[in-house]
Amino acid sequence: MANGLMTVSYVAAAILFILSLGGLSRQETARRGNFYGALGMAIAILATIIGAHVTGYALLVPAIVVGALVGWTLAVRVEMTQMPELVAVLHSFVGLAATLVGYASYLDPGAHFTGAEKSIHEVEIFLGVFIGAITFTGSIIAFGKLRGSISGKPLMLPARHWLNLAGILLSVYLGAVFLGAEGTAGLPALLVMTVIALLIGIHLVMGIGGADMPVVVSMLNSYSGWAAAATGFMLSNDLLIVTGALVGSSGAILSYIMCRAMNRSFVSVILGGFGTGGGTSSAAAPAGEVVAISAEDTAQLLADAKEVIIVPGYGMAVAQAQGVISEITKRLRAKGVKVRFAIHPVAGRLPGHMNVLLAEAKVPYDIVLEMDEINADFPETDAVLVVGANDIVNPSAQEDPGSPIAGMPVLEVWKAKTVVVFKRSMATGYAGVENPLFYKENTRMLFGDAKKSVDGILAHIPS
Ligand code: TAP
Repeated sequence: MANGLMTVSYVAAAILFILSLGGLSRQETARRGNFYGALGMAIAILATIIGAHVTGYALLVPAIVVGALVGWTLAVRVEMTQMPELVAVLHSFVGLAATLVGYASYLDPGAHFTGAEKSIHEVEIFLGVFIGAITFTGSIIAFGKLRGSISGKPLMLPARHWLNLAGILLSVYLGAVFLGAEGTAGLPALLVMTVIALLIGIHLVMGIGGADMPVVVSMLNSYSGWAAAATGFMLSNDLLIVTGALVGSSGAILSYIMCRAMNRSFVSVILGGFGTGGGTSSAAAPAGEVVAISAEDTAQLLADAKEVIIVPGYGMAVAQAQGVISEITKRLRAKGVKVRFAIHPVAGRLPGHMNVLLAEAKVPYDIVLEMDEINADFPETDAVLVVGANDIVNPSAQEDPGSPIAGMPVLEVWKAKTVVVFKRSMATGYAGVENPLFYKENTRMLFGDAKKSVDGILAHIPS
């Protein structure tokens, strides 16, 4: 392929990636955003494969076929609730690729850099391998923690921050040795640094509790972008640099947004130690009585209400209750009840989790509102249904300064006339914190799997 055509293809792909990010920022345009991203990637891959530098088709074509099959199978099989795990494991591939490309680039017999160019190339290699190796092991540990095969409890080694710092300083020293070496004599320094970076990746993520894992996944997403950008520099591939920078910065922005929604500082997340992951709280059980309600009585409550707000959470995703909830919404609206949805920015386990489920279930976009748009309306609401949500409606975030989630913005559901909480037990949510909402006078607990509960309600609302 001629160089000019290649440049045009790369520019087109980069523009499509930017349009894709823009589209993904709003529910109405997300599908289009996904399409732009896929199209951009198809153009980028095609242009690269038929570009002038590529020769080893005998290896490349089978690798692409296997990769596409694995990707396709994973995408078809994965449940929405497993999406963070999938993303974590995919980041580990990016990290591994950056590390391997770094080595290949260093050992490439065809490389003929000299002087300043050689130094710059070696810095790119060293940084790419360093970030890539951290991303690789960090993502694998994040995958294990999200899956539950590694404990969600933060691993708190004594002097752990000093250990990380020592690892980084040693890597800087090895970097100096690597840059000063002739030919490929810097290989031992590169190898030792790789081992250190692999260990830093493990240690960094092991020190972070289960509750912070989605932020860590987004942070590793950012790292994987920077690793890809470093690879782009190594290979002199402009598109990889642009794409890596887009992924790196959007991952960083997303991590920041998630931290803000949980009232955590980014640094406190990275330094780790938060979240027991075990779902137990150290605080005493809140005062008050727990009052249960049946599905039939909940249906009556809804039929009598003028204004209803539904707050979905992680439990709705687990129970796959969104389809029936959509049907209940339709029937209530047909009877003139005003029904709206309130979405907390970290409801569920990944950003936009609830929006995707509700969109899938064909809930109209215009009744799905963000927390800031609807939080002031709870006092005028007759009935609130909290479907499998817990931390995001916990009043102790506002009322108990000693609570681990103190200061986290929450949906103020307790201000409504009646709140019905759908859950299976009195267990805590992701942050492992007791919830005084369950003990409030205007709260009713509808115990059981959320899908069964909403089925029961639907049976009592005539169509
Ligand atoms: P959680 O606080 O985790 O609460 C979910 C509740 O759903 C649990 O209390 C559970 O109670 C219930 N549940 C589970 N399966 C159920 C089923 N089949 N039927 C009925 N109920 C079921 O969820 P949330 O309120 O959505 O809050 C999200 C949490 O994740 C927050 O702590 C947030 O900080 C954290 N987090 C989220 C993100 C993003 S981006 N979304 C990022 C980082 C952290 P039972 O076991 O009693 O049923």
